[in-house]
Amino acid sequence: MLKELLKKSRSYRGYDESRRITREELMEMVDSTRFAPSSMNVQPFQYLLVYEKEDTDKIQPLTGWAMNLPDYDLPHPGKCPTAFIIICQNTEWAPDLKRYIRDVGIVAQTMILRATEMGLGGIMIGSFNPKRVAEAMNLPETIVPMLVVAFGKPDEEIVLTEVGPGENLKYYRDENDVHYVPKRRLEDIVL
Ligand SMILES: Cc1cc2nc3c(=O)[nH]c(=O)nc-3n(C[C@H](O)[C@H](O)[C@H](O)COP(=O)(O)O)c2cc1C
Repeated sequence: MLKELLKKSRSYRGYDESRRITREELMEMVDSTRFAPSSMNVQPFQYLLVYEKEDTDKIQPLTGWAMNLPDYDLPHPGKCPTAFIIICQNTEWAPDLKRYIRDVGIVAQTMILRATEMGLGGIMIGSFNPKRVAEAMNLPETIVPMLVVAFGKPDEEIVLTEVGPGENLKYYRDENDVHYVPKRRLEDIVL
């Protein structure tokens, strides 16, 4: 079951905007991160829940989407995520911002997997300026945005493909806007 969930849990860039994600749903996603491993068990993160339209409208333009597809302007109009969780490091709990960078990925993947299980979807967005996001959300200096995770009800088709050594790993879209994500083969990743 976990493997099926992992296959379904893709990075979605198109959502049904009529389906707003609720604060309760975001709380459930954050709750799942409490069971994640943490370096030295410091658990240095706090999470900003962004779900009011007024606030998601502020965050969306501060995020960069699909750098591999410069000819596309994703998400398409009317297909934006309806919530964000901004994973922040509390520097009063842990001042070194580089030290917990692996932990960020673990909590992000954990919350996206929980969202997928709830029939929702998400995507990690590393392309953003932490200072601009902090300003837009009036965060104090001690709360530093580390990663933005967007959520919504997925409204696009994503297909996984397999590629061999030397083949192109860039994701791409066909004329019907189906999104393809090449993944390396099992036999090529085991040393
Ligand atoms: C740490 C991290 C940061 C990412 N940042 C962005 C981003 O800024 N913009 C974007 O469109 N996708 C971003 N992605 C999504 C990747 O492009 C995506 O994971 C990759 O294309 C593989 O697709 P999949 O997640 O569906 O397997 C990010 C993924 C990770 C793990």
